[in-house]
Amino acid sequence: MLDDGKKAGVWKSGRGKGRRTPKGRQYDDDALADVRALLGDLPRDRDMLIEFLHLIQDAHGHQSAAHLRALAHEMRLSMAEVWEVATFYAHFDPLREDDPVPPDLTIRVCDSLSCELAGSEALLAALQAGHDPARARVLRAPCMGRCDTAPVVEIGHRHVDHATPEAVQATIDAGDFHPVIPDYEDLAACRAGGGYDVLTRLRAGGDWEEVQQVVSDSGLRGLGGAGFPAGKKWGFVRGYPGPRLMAVNGDEGEPGTFKDRFHLERQPHLFLEGMLISAWAVAAERIYIYMRDEYPAVLQILRREIAALEAAELIRPGDVILRRGAGAYICGEESAMIESIEGKRGLPRHRPPYVAQVGLFGRPTLVHNIETCHWVARVLREGPEILSAVERNGRRGLRSYSVSGRVARPGVHLLPAGSTIADIIEAAGGMAPGHVFKAYQPGGPSSGLLPASMSDVPLDFDTLQPHGSFIGSAAVVVLSEADSARDAALNMLRFFESESCGQCTPCRVGCEKAVKLMQADAWDAPLLEELGQAMVDASICGLGQAAPNPIRAVIKHFPEEVSGDQLR
Ligand SMILES: Cc1cc2nc3c(=O)[nH]c(=O)nc-3n(C[C@H](O)[C@H](O)[C@H](O)COP(=O)(O)O)c2cc1C
Ligand code: SF4
Ligand code: FES
Repeated sequence: MLDDGKKAGVWKSGRGKGRRTPKGRQYDDDALADVRALLGDLPRDRDMLIEFLHLIQDAHGHQSAAHLRALAHEMRLSMAEVWEVATFYAHFDPLREDDPVPPDLTIRVCDSLSCELAGSEALLAALQAGHDPARARVLRAPCMGRCDTAPVVEIGHRHVDHATPEAVQATIDAGDFHPVIPDYEDLAACRAGGGYDVLTRLRAGGDWEEVQQVVSDSGLRGLGGAGFPAGKKWGFVRGYPGPRLMAVNGDEGEPGTFKDRFHLERQPHLFLEGMLISAWAVAAERIYIYMRDEYPAVLQILRREIAALEAAELIRPGDVILRRGAGAYICGEESAMIESIEGKRGLPRHRPPYVAQVGLFGRPTLVHNIETCHWVARVLREGPEILSAVERNGRRGLRSYSVSGRVARPGVHLLPAGSTIADIIEAAGGMAPGHVFKAYQPGGPSSGLLPASMSDVPLDFDTLQPHGSFIGSAAVVVLSEADSARDAALNMLRFFESESCGQCTPCRVGCEKAVKLMQADAWDAPLLEELGQAMVDASICGLGQAAPNPIRAVIKHFPEEVSGDQLR
């Protein structure tokens, strides 16, 4: 054991029957030396736990019991604390003493709705049959935010779009598992076009309330899903005594959503300037960006561009801290994200207090979605009319719809916020050849499904609630007559079942039970409704509260598919 400064005998009880070793299992010298080398000079702060687990996972492809014990020792944490965090996140492989070491190669196959429509089940089966499990493991994974190129596979950190077994094999043969970094507008190009002029002017003597008014005049609402007016949120956060913090939500885990990635892979500085303006407006002392691990290219872009901002002295080192998620959808819920940034399991908190008052490290915290920040910068550069002057169907503003499924041109389509599904399908080049429009998911699985007959409803905040749905992150998935609404709903509930954090029974048990009930030929609609109501009434967070939406939608709009009469 390494000498950590403690004297022999310290473990004695004082009654002469001392233990020879500390309580609990022991770390070994090699593992501790390795952990110390991996952590380097980084501060051993509690909130760094997930970052450190990443370092071990990246270096070894798993987290051995010896490494976890060494990390617990190094961070002065209990082994139980380290273990419960490591086991919470899908991208970590913590091992017990006798667990087999996973193979070097991990192939993740997305099985969320758009990929399922594009044949991910057959792809998964082919990959499982075609790969020696001793050399490569083939795993299911939820949406990777590339639904426009479904089906999608990730090998290491390399994505294979429009994946086939042959394309996957070719990627493995090439042996490069790093992400592909797209061409994007870097700091120099951004500044040449006037980027950061607004921020610099505001910092030199701007009035935050004037800026708040401009943002409110634009009508900008939070684009993470809840749609809370951005300017109003700034007022709340600023109303609580400092020091204040900002946390940016880049989790983008709602299946079908890829708008944040779209914007970040093109113009990351619109987001970064909007973020810095928002932080300035609430006088936040530090900003944490929580970026999902499924976006390795974005993580690299942000690392580079944050360093460029530091070099340009637009920020000081440590003003903006990038944190990497670890494969947990629930960490998109803002209080769970905050727990995760603090290095813990992503368990949503009870509210009140809201995070605006008691957020990160107990401080008042401004939480914004990536795209909300993007629009803050555009509104302040181009004027509030850029949003407020756009009108359609009585709604104002613009919306980045992530469109996938059976359309000719899947992708992010920037359209007026009052667009209907008919407008969206038109913008996406119409239906894919040979497909007839049947149904659509308007805003992620939490929004359920709507039938083609409802093609004249504006897809905006507040317009879908009367139909038992909501726009959320505007993740539109289009289904055709070739698809089954009940299968789509089952896919959505399976997602919720595997992503439920498990802390409340109605959600944990309810999702599991619903998945079982939904596999019967004829659905027991009253039982499913009773179960769904219990979930809505008694779940702590939006996951459990919205999970019954797809079930209710199918019972209401596609009863013929679940009556048991249909040949399946
Ligand atoms: C289950 C669940 C998942 C969520 N996932 C995300 C997400 O991935 N990204 C996001 O920005 N907001 C997500 N939200 C919404 C956040 O809790 C929060 O409202 C948002 O980040 C606030 O930023 P905004 O006001 O700029 O939208 C989620 C909410 C729930 C209940
Ligand atoms: S509703 Fe589900 S995801 Fe949300 S806190 Fe409860 S168990 Fe966790
Ligand atoms: S990448 Fe597969 S559904 Fe989004």
